[in-house]
Amino acid sequence: MPHLTDSPALRRDGLTLVALPNSVQIGRLYTTAVLRGWGYLNQEFLDDAQLVVSELLTNSVQAMRSANGHTPVTARSFIKITLSELRDRMCVEVWDPHPGLPHPGGMPDAESLRGRGLEIVRALALDMGYRVPRDGSTTAGKTVFATLPFP
Ligand SMILES: Nc1ncnc2c1ncn2[C@@H]1O[C@H](COP(=O)(O)OP(=O)(O)O)[C@@H](O)[C@H]1O
Ligand SMILES: [Mg+2]
Repeated sequence: MPHLTDSPALRRDGLTLVALPNSVQIGRLYTTAVLRGWGYLNQEFLDDAQLVVSELLTNSVQAMRSANGHTPVTARSFIKITLSELRDRMCVEVWDPHPGLPHPGGMPDAESLRGRGLEIVRALALDMGYRVPRDGSTTAGKTVFATLPFP
């Protein structure tokens, strides 16, 4: 996956969430509120942004589930979404502390219940990828990002 170019943000907003399934909806509502506040009212654009946010937050929540399927809430159970308005596109970034990395696997078989999320993001995004800490530390998580064209 490519890396985000260091493009300066015109506006930026972020929200820290607990890594629980209900947070995905909060992230969706938050995204619409911020983008509307910035003056982006095009419904298709808002829907696309919500979908991308949903997929990235869901992946973070799922990655942080323990083996028994529950997310233990500890001081390290937080994930963060950041929205940035760049000159020619918007950027969604989702940070989580899990050491695993995203691996889009190409569109799966029609019967498969899994593996479509990042492919959907790829189809909507101008670019997508992830960043890990420069020192290669596996305890500081990673940031998965996608950028979307403005309407
Ligand atoms: N934030 C993340 N942390 C760890 N692994 C991730 C993360 N996001 C994606 N992945 C990995 O990439 C795979 C593909 O993600 P995705 O395309 O959304 O499919 P699905 O979530 O249905 O498995 C996931 O199964 C997971 O192994
Ligand atoms: Mg997914």
